[in-house]
Amino acid sequence: MIRPRRFRQNNVIRNLVQEIRLDTSNFILPLFIHDQVESVDIPSLSGHKRLDAISVLKQCELALNKGINTIALFPSIDDDKKTSTCEEALNEDNLMCTVTRRIKKTFGDDLMIVGDIALDPYSSDGHDGLVKDGQILNDETVEVLAKMAVVQAESGVDILAPSDMMDGRVIAIRDLLDQNGFQNKLIMSYTAKYASNFYGPFRDALDSAPKEGDKKTYQMNFSNRLEAGLELDLDVAEGADIVMVKPASLYLDVISDYRSATTLPVAAYHVSGEYAMLKAAHEAGYLNFEDALFEVLTSIKRAGASVILTYGALEVSDYLKKL
Ligand code: PBG
Repeated sequence: MIRPRRFRQNNVIRNLVQEIRLDTSNFILPLFIHDQVESVDIPSLSGHKRLDAISVLKQCELALNKGINTIALFPSIDDDKKTSTCEEALNEDNLMCTVTRRIKKTFGDDLMIVGDIALDPYSSDGHDGLVKDGQILNDETVEVLAKMAVVQAESGVDILAPSDMMDGRVIAIRDLLDQNGFQNKLIMSYTAKYASNFYGPFRDALDSAPKEGDKKTYQMNFSNRLEAGLELDLDVAEGADIVMVKPASLYLDVISDYRSATTLPVAAYHVSGEYAMLKAAHEAGYLNFEDALFEVLTSIKRAGASVILTYGALEVSDYLKKL
């Protein structure tokens, strides 16, 4: 008789036949920074803060000590620097560039930095693109995004991550990076980024929620799976190095499609709302946060993502050591 329970009889055999394993080297830890002397809690993203310049260095060191070698930096910009034309995004001495230079000076190539390429942190409209008469302008935005990528690359950002969902941005960023001698900078594209309800805590962290309307004219309709294939074909053709699906745990079908459709590394972003749900359920006593997070991230990897962005990277690295 064929008895699959033979595989499950003890820990050694279970481990022997285990198909995949999470590894800290595949994690990217998102970190929020701001231009103030002290760090401030982000209430909806328990365990995370808007970090001051010194604390972010300490957090990088902590991450490295736990085997996490890549961070994604998200700057929270003071309101008086937000404009409709988003020029602060191109200021080479903006918060993002200043902090990046400091981190790279301290940790060099031991720590890779992912820079978000989208205008929302800098926009008085709270949109990822330039807004005119209530419309999000595509090609005008792409021009700014490509310049933004070069400014960030100059400051030391290693991986440029367009999260804006404008059409044609990957090729524009690749071209301008190459023209400026940045052939080795990677592009991790938010390829299938859905107009999700799970970005709330992130928008709290950056105070970046749209002032008018929503992001449905550029982020994808979450009913669509085939359209994610169209976005993938475009990003591959335009020269993306890593393709991302976002959110992650609710979009395992899309992750799985990407794994079979491309040879590029597939990333998945376990977003702020997905993380906050687990924290809230833990705090209510309904489940154990660390056990549940481990299961969710394992499922994301099982579906086909190798690179995983998660707010729980530090917790999971401790968890993996205890296994
Ligand atoms: C901004 C951006 C967002 C996230 C990453 N980059 C928010 C949005 O599109 O409104 C969300 C990440 C998260 O919720 O963890 N372009």
